[in-house]
Amino acid sequence: MKKNKKKSNIDFRFMSFFFKIRDVFHPPIKKIINAEIKQGEIVLDYGCGSGSYSIAATEKIGPMGKLIAADIHPLALKKVREKAKKIGYNNIETIQTDCDTKLDDESIDKIICFDVLHGISNKNNIIKEFYRVLKPNSTLSLDDHHYNEDQIIDFITSDGLFKLAYNNDKQYNFIKI
Ligand SMILES: C[S@@+](CC[C@H](N)C(=O)[O-])C[C@H]1O[C@@H](n2cnc3c(N)ncnc32)[C@H](O)[C@@H]1O
Repeated sequence: MKKNKKKSNIDFRFMSFFFKIRDVFHPPIKKIINAEIKQGEIVLDYGCGSGSYSIAATEKIGPMGKLIAADIHPLALKKVREKAKKIGYNNIETIQTDCDTKLDDESIDKIICFDVLHGISNKNNIIKEFYRVLKPNSTLSLDDHHYNEDQIIDFITSDGLFKLAYNNDKQYNFIKI
């Protein structure tokens, strides 16, 4: 399998700073609400970055849920762990991964994957991995401003593993078929 490249540490820190500003104008909780994340769920935030959506999703799932923050970059996971510790969330796990999460089959209620797809060279690998780890009829919520709507829907649905269920403000929820 072709490996994906991670950003340099400087690039990652710059991106994290930019996301701090983004989150002021676009509060992360909005996408979490659109993803229909519920209390007690097990949620995978794939390509978590500095954890804006991991933290917002953990707020939503509450103490009975579990958040798994996954990223190729070790600094991302460090950042998420620091944020979780500061807030006092002890139900966040982190995994460093490049499209092979090692999570159990059908163990996840929801996957969120925001602004990540464009960085993944073999998109089929990650789509198959999402399919493998999601419980039956569960949802992948995804956006990527680098692609238009047709491209996103095509990437996710062309293998017949997912179908589009919801589309709002360039955020797409796909159900595992
Ligand atoms: C543009 S950032 C988005 C971060 C976060 N989802 C957000 O919107 O705040 C993309 C993230 O995806 C991660 N990433 C890129 N390729 C990846 C891969 N193959 N597997 C896991 N994470 C990856 C990057 O390290 C980066 O943290």
